[in-house]
Amino acid sequence: MRVFRFGEIDSTNSFLKRENKLENYDLAMAKNQTEGRGRRGNSWVSKEGAALFSFVLKENSKLPMEEYRKLPLVVGVAVLRALKKFQSLDYKFKWTNDIYVNEKKISGILVEKINENFIIGIGINVNNEDFGDLKNSATSLKIESNKEFNIEELILTVVEEFKNCFEEFLNGGWELILKEINEKNYLLDKPVTIKIIDKITRGIGGKVLDDGTLEVDVEGIKKSFDIGEVHISFKDKAVK
Ligand code: BTN
Repeated sequence: MRVFRFGEIDSTNSFLKRENKLENYDLAMAKNQTEGRGRRGNSWVSKEGAALFSFVLKENSKLPMEEYRKLPLVVGVAVLRALKKFQSLDYKFKWTNDIYVNEKKISGILVEKINENFIIGIGINVNNEDFGDLKNSATSLKIESNKEFNIEELILTVVEEFKNCFEEFLNGGWELILKEINEKNYLLDKPVTIKIIDKITRGIGGKVLDDGTLEVDVEGIKKSFDIGEVHISFKDKAVK
């Protein structure tokens, strides 16, 4: 595992994707990103004071490929566990990749794949407080607790928690991970809009199912939506 530290870079995910010989758990972190990326081609506002980092997970032959669909959820639980160690707040997990506090986003996760490597990119709003236009939808640990935190320590804790969580996952611990996700399920009983290409489905969010999909009640019929295929929004307004 190597650690790459940057004052400024385009994107820690992009950096690792450009590297030739990646090792498991190689970690890149930056104080600022000029082209921070989110999911679905969104940009990720990357101001100093946030934890902006990516690490490598090499494909493990012990794990069937379809199981990797659950990876963003395993990462989410690792982030939740790490955050809890730093500051006790009522964190919620928004399927598939976000952490919320008080109805505002505090962390986003972007999992990408290049060759046999998954690049797990995480942004956590830590000591940053200025969200400009996003101030009604984003928050940080500092805003919520009035405290400042050591960013590198938090990053290393997330990676450690992920290592433990992934080990747990490999050793049959999915049930426990899923239980944690459902205990913190932000979408439960909320009106959701699911957009798959041009088709929009409205319903009420349900639990995360054993296969990692989200159950949604659509006019009394329970349907499940797949990781990676859906885009969820509220009241026709996209939630990033
Ligand atoms: C999302 O909420 O859509 C995912 C956001 C992921 C942002 C992180 S910041 C570190 C890493 N580098 C990037 O360019 N993106 C991820």
